[in-house]
Amino acid sequence: MSDAIDVWFVRLDATYDQSRAAWSLLSPAERTRRDRFHAPRDAQRFADRRVALRRVLARYVGADPGALALVAGPTGKPALAGMPSLAFNQSSSSDASMIAVAAGPDPIGIDVERYQTLPDLDSVLRVAFTPADCAALAAGSDASRRTLRGWVRKEAVLKACGAGLQIDPRLVDGTAEPALDVRTVQIRADTARTAWSVETFEPDPNFVAAVASAAGRPIQRRHVRWGELA
Ligand SMILES: CC(C)(COP(=O)(O)OP(=O)(O)OC[C@H]1O[C@@H](n2cnc3c(N)ncnc32)[C@H](O)[C@@H]1OP(=O)(O)O)[C@@H](O)C(=O)NCCC(=O)NCCS
Repeated sequence: MSDAIDVWFVRLDATYDQSRAAWSLLSPAERTRRDRFHAPRDAQRFADRRVALRRVLARYVGADPGALALVAGPTGKPALAGMPSLAFNQSSSSDASMIAVAAGPDPIGIDVERYQTLPDLDSVLRVAFTPADCAALAAGSDASRRTLRGWVRKEAVLKACGAGLQIDPRLVDGTAEPALDVRTVQIRADTARTAWSVETFEPDPNFVAAVASAAGRPIQRRHVRWGELA
């Protein structure tokens, strides 16, 4: 593998029958988690994104997708047992899932959101952004869109470091500017690493995504439908 981060955009468009035919790839723990969803569509989406993750990772390690040992790290971040030199992270929104994969032990994080008008924009702003950022994001048109761009940056960084929302997203600086770009983002509470390189882009006109890594690494984008991974 090169220095690049491979970023897979997977359209979760499987029929129920196609999905069910792949459930044998899931581990017992994944099947238990799938069965906890009340809505059948949510259960299928969980199964489909896990199958997609297994099939993508299997390409890199040359193993059977069903044989991969996906384990949760101390903060819940999934990892491949015995494979510390393959970094990956996954994020899903609506009918799409994105998987970032990179060679080496340096952590990476990804977040994707489908653009939508946020019905609870004020509370999203209050919970996730500093008062100064809230004011900037709430002003002008397209506030939901600009907020989602800032939000994916924050979450990509929090997922790269593994803490997720255990760290207050308001402590992630430099995310309110809505431009699609590559920038350095700081976490004020992160003692392990304080600066992350974050690339924000639209994998599709309906989605916005951000990928965070320790050093700015080029991104190689791949678009596939779920069934093409088999
Ligand atoms: C990680 C987190 C931000 C994900 O948020 P989200 O917007 O709901 O979902 P996304 O689709 O972007 O990401 C979910 C994926 O991130 C990955 N993930 C889970 N925990 C993670 C973590 N701590 N760091 C990075 N990635 C994580 C998984 O692949 C997960 O996919 P799954 O739900 O299919 O297992 C959120 O779940 C979180 O903050 N968790 C906190 C971790 C925690 O509380 N751990 C408790 C100790 S175990």
